[in-house]
This record gives sequence, C-alpha cells and structure tokens, in this order.
Amino acid sequence: MPFRSRYTGLIEAYRDRLPVNDDTRIISLGEGNTPLIKLSNIPAHLGKKVDIYVKYEGLNPTGSFKDRGMTMAVTKAVEEGSEAIICASTGNTSAAAAAYAARAGITAFVLIPDGKIALGKLAQAMMHGAVVIQIKGNFDDGMRLVKEVADHAPVTIVNSINPYRLQGQKTAAFEIMEELGRAPDYHCLPVGNAGNITAHWIGYCEYSSASGDHVTGACTFCDGHCRYADGAIVGNRPRMLGYQAAGSAPFMRGEMVDNPDTVATAIRIGHPQSWDMAWKVKEESGGWFDECTDEVILAAQKLLAEKEGIFCEPASATSLAGAMMDIQSGKIPEGSSIVCTLTGHGLKDPDAAIKQSTSPMVTIDADLESVKRAILDNMS
Ligand code: F0G
Repeated sequence: MPFRSRYTGLIEAYRDRLPVNDDTRIISLGEGNTPLIKLSNIPAHLGKKVDIYVKYEGLNPTGSFKDRGMTMAVTKAVEEGSEAIICASTGNTSAAAAAYAARAGITAFVLIPDGKIALGKLAQAMMHGAVVIQIKGNFDDGMRLVKEVADHAPVTIVNSINPYRLQGQKTAAFEIMEELGRAPDYHCLPVGNAGNITAHWIGYCEYSSASGDHVTGACTFCDGHCRYADGAIVGNRPRMLGYQAAGSAPFMRGEMVDNPDTVATAIRIGHPQSWDMAWKVKEESGGWFDECTDEVILAAQKLLAEKEGIFCEPASATSLAGAMMDIQSGKIPEGSSIVCTLTGHGLKDPDAAIKQSTSPMVTIDADLESVKRAILDNMS
C-alpha cells in the first residue's frame, strides 16, 4: 500500500509562497493542516439554510492559530541570528512563543497581564521554560513596553507587528481555498489586534492571484514580503467579517478603548496594532465589523460544544456568535457559505467552561444501585 507523505508543517507545505530559502533552518512543530468541519446541527437549530464551516485552529500544536505565525517568526529570528524573542500576550502568543523558542533553543520573554490570562496558557508558557513577566497592566500596556524595550535589548518581537507572523498565518486561507475549491462567501473571525483578519485577507488575495484572477494595483499589506507584492487582486475572495467583544470593541467605537473588558480574555485589547490594515480589509472585501456581548459569546461556545462536539475557547466563539447573529437577522443571506475561524482550543480556559456548564454532575456511593439510579434519573 502506498504511504501518504508525512506532513511536516506549513512552511514546508507552502515553501514557495513564504520568505524562506533552501538553507533556512525551519523551526516547526507540524502546525497547520487543521480540520475544516462542516456544522451539521447548528444551521437547523437556527432554522436557516446556510453552510457553516469551522476552521478548528485549536488543533494546532499549542492549541491556537498563533503557531502558524510563530513557526515563521521564530524561523526568521533564528535565521537572522537572534538568541531571544519577546512578546506581550493575552496568553496564546506567549504559549506559542515559549514552545517554538524551546524548539529552537533560544529564550522567550513573555509579558502578560497579571491575573488576566487563562490558566492553560500560563501553564504552557511556564512549562516550556519562558521567562514569564506579569505586568500590573493590560495587554496594551504590555505591547507598548515590548516595543520600547526592543530598542534597548537584543530581542526580536514576535507579536503580529512582526511581518513574518502574518506571512505564516495567511496559510489558513490557502488551506480553506484548497479544501473548498473556492472562497467562502463570508469569513468570520474574532478581532483583537486584527493581525489574523489581515493575514487571512493577504492569503485570500495571494491565492486568488495565483489562480489567475484579475490583478490590480499593488499589494498594500505585505510590505514586500509576498510573492505578489507587485500586484493585488480582485477575484474569488470572501467578505471578511470581524467580530469583537462588546466591552473591548475599538473597531465599533471608531477609536481606541482604554479599559477593555471581556470574559473572552484573549481579545481583551483596546489598542489594536493592525488598526489601519483591518479597516482596509473591511473596505476591500466589502465586509463589516460588529460586536457581541459576553453572554452571546459564551452561549455560542456552549452551543458549539453541545450541538457539534467542538470545544473552543470563549474568544474563538466570537466568530460563530457574530455569524449566527448576522444569519438570524438576514444580513448574511440564506444560501451563503460561511467559514468561522475557531482560533483557540477550549481546554485553554477550563475555568470559563466549568463556570458556565450546566451539565448534570452528581456524586454518589460507589455501588451498582447508585449508578443505576443516577442513569435513570438523568436519561433525557
Ligand atoms: N482568538 C484568540 C484565541 C486569540 O488568542 C487572539 C489573540 C485572537 C482571537 C485575536 O487575534 O489579535 O490577530 O485579532 N491573541 C493574542 C495573544 C493577542 O496575545 O495571544 P488578533
């Protein structure tokens, strides 16, 4: 029987579309190639005829989409001779930075908001041996400090302001195009710093260009890193929909927010780093931004877990929460195909899950009678 070739990560998979050469030492954990799962119960639950797919990025090696960007950022940092990387993080970036630094044999410094990151993410950063610096401030304070300190210390920033991060993250769009054979009508993402929505748009534009779609103007996103820097594209691309948590929604306010707050701690960001680019993505794609309350975000997280068997963290559920809201209102019409990115795994934040769970949990004596009774009492 012929063997399937071994998957060795997204840089190898998309080598010709990424800024690496034959001599580059690739730092990979086998990231990418995540499942695109078609929801089978939620459309009927909504009473709408739509095709909803979720791109389950929680199945990356450290449990979030950050691995796509981090394999590129750390590969390039090592190639450029860097011995240390640094990031500010609401949790997932720190977990990915810590893991890829460990793999590369370099040091990771991570600045996190004191007491405001999910437990799983903190455990990852600590376990991989990062230097964890908790700051008495929020992510935006951390980001400001990281930018300042990088001018004074020999460290490479691996937040999404590092252009290689977006280059790695754009590959999620390639995978979706390859699997669906065309762009979805709508692509929904949770928005924090707005790096990921920008990266996806770069990916769709490049893919569309490579497929021979009409080319106009210059690519305004990639800073000359992409193969299509000389020509951006009009063609088979989705409308990009960016959803924010209501307490942390600068794109909805039209200005920076100083004290963001939400249960979706991963997107508790008031000063997005990719502000201008995200507005451009919205304009170019004909998409929109919207916001969801914490209540609606948690309800979507729970619905996905209960109706589809898919567990994502609260921030990730914002994409589905927003999509459901717009499907219900008719803003996303019936007949549409929709991809929602589920950015991080539910196991990242067990506290948030347990706190909202209504699953029956009973404690009984360890005998057959008690178990039988527990089953009969809870048959639905
Ligand atoms: N979803 C999750 C699970 C995230 O961790 C993040 C960002 C986002 C969505 C938003 O993506 O910033 O590209 O718009 N987390 C960063 C971090 C800020 O530090 O882990 P974005």
